[in-house]
Parts: sequence; structure tokens; C-alpha cells
Amino acid sequence: MLTGDDALLALESLIEKPEATRSSFWDVAVELFKVGADGAVDGPAGLGIVSRKTGSLRTAAHWISRRPYWFMGRKYPDFADSNRLGRLVARRQRRRYTEDIVRQVLSLALIRDTFSFAGDDDLSVVIGDGYGVMTVLLLLAYPARRVIVVNLTKSLLVDLIHVRQVVPEIRFAWVSTAADMEAALSCPGLNLIAVRADDARHISAAPIGLAVNTASMQEMTPPVIAEYFDVLRHSPGADTVFYCCNKLSKTLPDGTVVRFDDYPWRAADRILVDEPCAWQNIVSTKKPPFWYVKKNVVWHRLAVLEKDSA
Ligand SMILES: C[S@@+](CC[C@H](N)C(=O)[O-])C[C@H]1O[C@@H](n2cnc3c(N)ncnc32)[C@H](O)[C@@H]1O
Repeated sequence: MLTGDDALLALESLIEKPEATRSSFWDVAVELFKVGADGAVDGPAGLGIVSRKTGSLRTAAHWISRRPYWFMGRKYPDFADSNRLGRLVARRQRRRYTEDIVRQVLSLALIRDTFSFAGDDDLSVVIGDGYGVMTVLLLLAYPARRVIVVNLTKSLLVDLIHVRQVVPEIRFAWVSTAADMEAALSCPGLNLIAVRADDARHISAAPIGLAVNTASMQEMTPPVIAEYFDVLRHSPGADTVFYCCNKLSKTLPDGTVVRFDDYPWRAADRILVDEPCAWQNIVSTKKPPFWYVKKNVVWHRLAVLEKDSA
């Protein structure tokens, strides 16, 4: 098990290697951006919107286009605190508080207000993060809970570097074998475990209390999505709550159609939230009224998954 800078260097050496869990969408997307040693991303990364532009006109337009999100947040008592964490993430990552962060803040507020963890012994897992935003939001919102972040290699490197920009004292490890995972799970003081998508099966050794996937399964192939469900259903421990927020349907470049309703949900999954995702179905524009609403394109579901024996 490698930790800290050793883990980053090892991951960096692997970013050009082919990955079995990449969809045709990500086969193209990973070639479009480069990652520097400091985590600087060059090229269109498709991991989120990073803007460092400031200026009063831009700030005013930004404020107006965010109003629908603040309105949506009002129904969640934890929104104010989640919003504070989102701003902190943006500030420490030296970027504007863009829509992709605000949307994840709203998802966090929904999760925080829908259920409470029985304890902090189990872990949270973020599948397919971008700039480590959801990972670090969970670390900040639940400081006693460890997080596993699983992603394609290049994106994982970006996630880790950006999590560390927000929480410089973070202790993280990269695990790639069952033995590594065992060591990481029993290592006191380790807050974050990084896993490459091709090694996702090792996550099933961890007790997972919460799993989060936003805007990412929609870009994976059905067998990869099925493996993630399988991993979660086999995780030891009591309940695994899964927050899944993705397009109802997306066609990948090779013609594969990925449908939310075809993910391997089960009738015995206990559904807590199941509706169009208001904050993912809104798009900001440059002209008044500065946003428009898409109809039910993105769906979110919060469900307690039926478990299979570990
Ligand atoms: C559009 S970004 C989503 C970023 C972020 N979750 C959000 O809501 O803005 C899609 C993410 O899915 C990741 N991804 C693609 N294939 C994956 C796989 N097989 N396993 C895990 N993550 C994957 C990409 O690397 C990227 O980080």
C-alpha cells in the first residue's frame, strides 16, 4: 500500500495504461486532457467546470444564475452548512464556485437531511468523482468517516491532488490488491483510500454505509455499472445507502445506450428518494432569465440496497 506522494507518483506512472473499465466515451475523454505534477489540468477534462475568472460583471451574472439553486436548497435544513463547505472547496481549489460544485452541494444537503448514520465505523464511497469535489465534501461534512474514492487512473490522480488542496493534512493511500485494502482498512488515521476503477472489486471488503455517484454511471458500460452494484451489495455491514444521480438515457460514442432504469436495481431496494433531479435539470445561459429547465433528463434515487451475503 502506497501513501501520500508515493501513491501520486505511482498513479502518475500508470495514466497511459489501457483500462478495461473505460467506456468508449472515456476512451476519447482521457486523451483530451493532461495532468501536471501539481494537479493542474490542461485541456477539456470533462470532470467539471473550472473557472478562475473574476470581475464584477461576471460575479453579478454568476449570482443571478445561481438563484434557482439557492431556492432549491431552502427545503434542506443542512443546505446552509453544505453551501459553506462548497464555497470552502472552491476557495481552496482557487476556482469559482461553479454549477458543478453547487449541484453536488445540493446532493450532499439532500443526503444529510434524508438519513443519519448509525455510527462512523463504516465508510463512504464516491464512484466517479471530478476534482475530488464530492469526496472532500463528504470528508468535511462527516469528519469521522473515512472515504473511498474510485475512478479511472488519470481522473483519480486529479481527484487526490484536488482533495489535498482543500485538506492539506489528509492522509490517503492507493490500494490495488486485497491485501492492500485489508491494510488500509486497519490503518488508524488514514482518512482516504483511492482505488482504480479496474480494481473496484476490492471495495467489497469494506463496510460501505454510503455510496455516491453523480453524472458518471451515465458514461460507463452496463457491465461496469453492474459490477459497482455487485460490490455495494456484497459489502459487509448493515445498510448501504446509494445516492445515484444520472441521465435517464445516454448514448455513448460506440452506440451503447446506458439507461438509468436498466441499472441492476431490485424490487427489494428500499427507496428513500426517487424523482427528477431539479438541480441537474437546470442549465444556465448568458441571456435573461439566465437559465432554462430541461424536462426530466436527469434522475436521482437514494436507496437502501438489498444486500447479498459478503
Ligand atoms: C462527468 S464526470 C462527473 C464528475 C462529478 N461526479 C460531477 O458530478 O460533476 C464523470 C466521472 O466519471 C469517471 N468515470 C468514468 N468511468 C469510470 C469508471 N469505470 N469507474 C469510476 N469512475 C469512472 C470519470 O473519470 C469522471 O471522473
